[in-house]
Amino acid sequence: MPRLKDKTCIVTGAARGIGAAIARAFAQEGAGVVVTDKDADGAANVAREVGGQSLRLDVAVEADWATLTKTWPACDVLVNNAGVTGFEETMRPHDPEHATLEDWRAVHAVNLDGTFLGCRYAIQAMRAKRAGSIINISSRSGLVGIPAAAAYAASKAAVRNHTKSVALYCAEQGLNIRCNSIHPAAILTPMWEPMLGDGPDRAARMAAFVADTPQRRFGQPDEVAAIAVLLASDEAAYMTGAELIIDGGLLAGSAATPQTY
Ligand SMILES: NC(=O)c1ccc[n+]([C@@H]2O[C@H](COP(=O)([O-])OP(=O)(O)OC[C@H]3O[C@@H](n4cnc5c(N)ncnc54)[C@H](O)[C@@H]3O)[C@@H](O)[C@H]2O)c1
Repeated sequence: MPRLKDKTCIVTGAARGIGAAIARAFAQEGAGVVVTDKDADGAANVAREVGGQSLRLDVAVEADWATLTKTWPACDVLVNNAGVTGFEETMRPHDPEHATLEDWRAVHAVNLDGTFLGCRYAIQAMRAKRAGSIINISSRSGLVGIPAAAAYAASKAAVRNHTKSVALYCAEQGLNIRCNSIHPAAILTPMWEPMLGDGPDRAARMAAFVADTPQRRFGQPDEVAAIAVLLASDEAAYMTGAELIIDGGLLAGSAATPQTY
C-alpha cells in the first residue's frame, strides 16, 4: 500500500536538490505532487518526471501564495523546503561583524518569511479536513552558531522555533495538523557548488567540509526525502513539534570529547 495514497503534497523549491528528491519520493509513495519553485521551467521538468503538476512560486512573495491558494485551496502536506544560503551570487561576508543588513534581510526573506507564509497557507488549506502535515526544512545550522553564515544560521533557528509555535497552535485549535522540522547537515546538492567550486581543489574542499562528520561523507538528497515521507505519512500521527536531525552524527558529539582509546 503506497504510504501517501490520495494525499495532495506541495513542495517548495522543488526544481532541484532536496526538494526535487522529496517530490520524487512522494510520487513513488502514491501522492499527487505539486512541484513549486521560483524557477518555473525547473519545476515543470520535475513535475513532468513525477507525473505531478507545477506552479511558479517565490516563497518570499505573498501574492504568489495567494495564487497557490486559488489553485490549490486544500492540501494534505506542505514541505517548506525552499531556502538560500545567501552565497548563491556573491561570496560577501555574512559574519556578525561584516554582514550587510541587505544580505541579512535577503536570507531571512526566503528562509523565514517564506516558511511563515507557507505555514499560514497550509493551516488554512488543511483546516477543512482538520488534518495535515507541515514539514519545515531547517538545518543543523539552526541548532548551532555558524559565524561565517550568521544570517543563514539565524534564519534556520527561527524556522525551528516557528515549527513548534505552529505545532502548538494547531493542537490548541483541535486540529490534527502536525508540524515538524528536519535538520540536515551537509547534503550534496547544487546549493554547495559556489562553496566547492570546480577547481583542482574541489575534492580536498569536499573532504574538508565533512572532516568533522563522524560518517565522513556528504548526505544524499534521497536520505532527507525518506524522512520527509515518514513525516508526511500517517505513520507519524503522534509526531508534532519535533525536530529530526540527519547529519551523519555531527551533532551527537563534541570536539572537546576526551579520547582514552
Ligand atoms: N544541501 C544542504 O547541505 C542543506 C543542509 C541543511 C539544510 N538545507 C536546506 O534544504 C533546503 C533545500 O536545499 P538544497 O540543498 O536542495 O538547495 P538548492 O540550492 O539545491 O535548491 C534550492 C531550490 O530552492 C529554489 N528557491 C530559492 N529561492 C527560492 C524562493 N524565493 N522561492 C522558491 N524557490 C526558491 C531554487 O530555485 C532551487 O530550486 C533549503 O532550505 C536548505 O537551506 C540544505
